[in-house]
Amino acid sequence: MQRKTTLPPLTIRGYTIPYPIVQGGMGVGISWDELAGTVSHEGGLGVISAVGTGYYQNFAFVEKFAKNRPFEPQNFYSKTALIEIFKNARARCGDAPLGANVLYAINDYGRVVHDACVAGANIIITGAGLPTDMPEFTSDFPDVALVPIVSSARALRILCKRWNGRYKRIPDAVVVEGPLSGGHQGVMYEDCFKPEYQLESVFPEVVKEAKNWGNIPLLAAGGIWDRADIDRFMDMGASGVQMATRFLGTHECDAKYYAKLMPTISKDDITLVKSPVGYPARAIMHGVLQRLQEGTAPKIACVSHCVQPCQRGVQAKIVGYCIADRLGDGALGDATNGLYFTGANGYRIDKIVSVKDIMNELICD
Ligand SMILES: Cc1cc2nc3c(=O)[nH]c(=O)nc-3n(C[C@H](O)[C@H](O)[C@H](O)COP(=O)(O)O)c2cc1C
Repeated sequence: MQRKTTLPPLTIRGYTIPYPIVQGGMGVGISWDELAGTVSHEGGLGVISAVGTGYYQNFAFVEKFAKNRPFEPQNFYSKTALIEIFKNARARCGDAPLGANVLYAINDYGRVVHDACVAGANIIITGAGLPTDMPEFTSDFPDVALVPIVSSARALRILCKRWNGRYKRIPDAVVVEGPLSGGHQGVMYEDCFKPEYQLESVFPEVVKEAKNWGNIPLLAAGGIWDRADIDRFMDMGASGVQMATRFLGTHECDAKYYAKLMPTISKDDITLVKSPVGYPARAIMHGVLQRLQEGTAPKIACVSHCVQPCQRGVQAKIVGYCIADRLGDGALGDATNGLYFTGANGYRIDKIVSVKDIMNELICD
């Protein structure tokens, strides 16, 4: 038996998470009931992605389709599916704290945040934009903790000023995300490579800014891989970390195709691409991204109206793919048309393990 060292618990608005490890939300269909429920059961914070819940259980909760896709946001972000996902996650983790990830850039953001509260989320995490009005949508649920994701001290300052002025509230915790993370990035393409935008540079600045607003717990995210990484950021003032890519290499990852894909990729297969959401996104050169290079990508026809910046397919046509359909195909395990996000460390997954294995490795000396 390995000796357990003292990783302190993480407390967010009165919720105690035994180990300060948050599993980052991953949509579409990557962190749903199985992954998030298991992480919470193992003492971390499991985070259910509220993105594309219409794809849950092969569209079981979708009421209206067009071209075989969930029609409009009310079907793409299905409330009944989200409630079912939470119910099934709770069957794994009982009363342990459970989070929901809701992207700010989505259509129906406020409705989906409210749905997540109704479904039983204790903590809501929002990135892909600065959620200046987030507290409005949880006013019926005063116990729900609100956790925005920021990529700079300036973003935190703007958000705290706004929330404090309008709602007399400051974030219950903040995720500070650097550009080694998976999926959408918080900074422009060129900035992803500059030293001053890396997590190591940004994190201390955010620590300083957070001190102006009381004791906000800060979670470091983007490229955290092992215990040494966790210790390094805890020493810099983090109360915990948010990790996602490592959980792509687990049996419990809800998008099962990742278990096949991850052990086969190399560093060169990981790339930053343009996305209809308007931010660069880190993904694997596989599926639709290969089709794009070959000029054989599927036609674009907006059905789900998923994110506001895409303007019903205008941006999708510019970048060459529909993000809802292609991430949805990824959740369905379509090797030809799926879009597969990863963090910069994705190539380090060489075998599939259990969530328990990862948690044990991270919490032990
Ligand atoms: C496959 C994948 C999908 C992701 N999807 C989302 C998402 O839907 N919403 C979000 O806020 N972050 C998303 N992220 C970012 C993660 O939640 C997390 O903050 C980040 O990836 C942490 O860096 P790491 O992957 O190096 O551990 C995604 C990351 C990955 C790898």
